[in-house]
Amino acid sequence: MCDTILDEASSPAELGDALQAFSSLCSDIGGVQPNPSFDAWAQDALLDSGVAINPEAAAHCAGDYQRSVVFIRGVHAAINRLKQRFPGTPLEILYAGCGPFATLLLPLLGKFEPGELNISLLDIHQRSLDSVECLLAQPGIRAHRVRTIRNDACHYEHPVKLHLVICETMQKSLEQEPQFAVTANLAPQLWPAGIFIPELIEVTLQLAELGDAVSTDNTPLQPDPAAGAKSPGRHPIATIFTLSPRHAAEQLHGARPNPYTNKLELAPVFVEIPRVDDYTGLDAVLFTRIVVFERYRLGDYDAQITLPLRCPELLPLTSGKRYRVGYQLGTYPRFDFAPVQND
Ligand SMILES: C[S@@+](CC[C@H](N)C(=O)[O-])C[C@H]1O[C@@H](n2cnc3c(N)ncnc32)[C@H](O)[C@@H]1O
Repeated sequence: MCDTILDEASSPAELGDALQAFSSLCSDIGGVQPNPSFDAWAQDALLDSGVAINPEAAAHCAGDYQRSVVFIRGVHAAINRLKQRFPGTPLEILYAGCGPFATLLLPLLGKFEPGELNISLLDIHQRSLDSVECLLAQPGIRAHRVRTIRNDACHYEHPVKLHLVICETMQKSLEQEPQFAVTANLAPQLWPAGIFIPELIEVTLQLAELGDAVSTDNTPLQPDPAAGAKSPGRHPIATIFTLSPRHAAEQLHGARPNPYTNKLELAPVFVEIPRVDDYTGLDAVLFTRIVVFERYRLGDYDAQITLPLRCPELLPLTSGKRYRVGYQLGTYPRFDFAPVQND
């Protein structure tokens, strides 16, 4: 299964089958059935820095196969890079928000010798950790040094410096889940030559024709590669946020209350709706791109977490109209848009 995922010649069908097999095996052993909307909210953990989705919904992420494949390949490449940077040293790895299957790391364990990796799997949901414990008890995996930790990754302090942090606690446009706060807390706990995965997340604001790729309530219908980056009729406005592990703690330090909402937010950017000949069919849209590790990347529409998000706050589109855009922190992180009076 792991070889199929790492083999760049594998077809989409083979990759999908491999992840499906992994997910089914984990469900059978760990007892958590993937379900995108299982008792949503009731079973989610509402933390002070964002929502930690419930174990069934977290399990469902494994099936977002391009996401899983690109992250697993990126983690594999990063561990091999760290073995070169820290020869002969067991690598201290923290996987924050591992969910019930530890999807982004568990399939790789057979690729490394016992003793090469010291692994901590952290999640806020005990049921996810119980599932992971069942998976870790399987022959082959038992040989590795792996422990589970129940904690909030936004506040957790690891007892020793880390070589690698893996964290995918996000939705599209960094909305709802605490990816930013987790990154700001954990990235400073790395060795200077350590690696944080993902290496970069960028959110841009554009005018774009989405057609039916996203419904009016922002529910994704069908990821449509044809409507992606090569689509004509896109009008880039600005990069409104770059989440880089190196700068996240500093960005958090600079957070201030929004003067209108009084909610804590990062330093705002100011954007202006560009002049176009015809606004018919155009929306203001946030696009998310992710550099997992080096060449392992997810572009627009590649995964659920890089689907576009409409911004109804910017409608009707008016040429020259200016907005203040701030990334709002707290229990439901999101971008906040406020019109700015033109001089
Ligand atoms: C989107 S799921 C991803 C699951 C798995 N890592 C994967 O990639 O398939 C996010 C996971 O992170 C956990 N999580 C989110 N925020 C967390 C936090 N602040 N502390 C600990 N766990 C968190 C959730 O409980 C959930 O299991």
